[in-house]
Amino acid sequence: METYGLHQYPGRLFIVEGVDGSGKSTQIALLRQWLISEGYTVFFSEWNSSPLVKKTTSRGKKKQLLTPTTFSLIHSTDFADRTEHDIIPPLKAGAIVLADRYIYTAFARDVARNVDRTWVRELYQFAVKPTCAFYFRVPLEVSLSRILTGRSELKYYEAGMDLGLSSDIRQSFTLFQQRIVHEYEAMVDEFGLTVMDATLPIPEQQRQMRRLVLPHLEGVRRLRPPLPEQELENIARRSEILHGRNDRETL
Ligand SMILES: Nc1ncnc2c1ncn2[C@@H]1O[C@H](COP(=O)(O)OP(=O)(O)O)[C@@H](O)[C@H]1O
Ligand SMILES: [Mg+2]
Repeated sequence: METYGLHQYPGRLFIVEGVDGSGKSTQIALLRQWLISEGYTVFFSEWNSSPLVKKTTSRGKKKQLLTPTTFSLIHSTDFADRTEHDIIPPLKAGAIVLADRYIYTAFARDVARNVDRTWVRELYQFAVKPTCAFYFRVPLEVSLSRILTGRSELKYYEAGMDLGLSSDIRQSFTLFQQRIVHEYEAMVDEFGLTVMDATLPIPEQQRQMRRLVLPHLEGVRRLRPPLPEQELENIARRSEILHGRNDRETL
């Protein structure tokens, strides 16, 4: 999309995209840990998290009042607010911004809801172009099994029930996700997304991500020098205690 110029800010913007269960949040959390340990200032922004639209979204969802267009407008309002408050200021200050889902989520989901492709792209013309946009490609049966195992309940909009694809919520979720995958795949070339094989083990994907991010860090200011090995060990141990898992293995 020509309208998104490369930003001129001194910071860097890395974003992750993919269907639910593709492993985005896992990888971006590990990337964040690493960047912080390397001494960078890191900000994080998550899809649909702006306080501005929270009440409206939750009311609309509860009463099932949201049409594809209103849903789309709410998400772009959320995104505009976060762009102004959470994304541009840190980029201006030379920091690294990480985003869990970005405009491509809107393009994939809204078009899957039959919103016009061009219309939704124009809605996000103000967006800052990411330094690197990772797309976690995963076969649907893999992501579905990651998501659906141990989860009893899918939500109405999450499952795309508003589209009337099926009265069975799991079946509707599967059909909706299929449409979303189709849109993501078409966007790989359209927007030059960096494709990750999301079926690989977590540590292997993380190694690849860091290799791909590294060249973009040249010239980015660090707050302090990278932490020495011993300190990293201590952080990993503390995180292990806090989260009950072995993060060292994943590094
Ligand atoms: N590479 C992987 N292999 C196996 N399981 C994974 C992998 N990456 C993530 N998972 C698991 O899949 C589930 C969904 O991961 P998550 O990072 O939350 O995905 P997303 O944010 O894309 O929805 C979690 O239980 C996570 O531990
Ligand atoms: Mg997630």
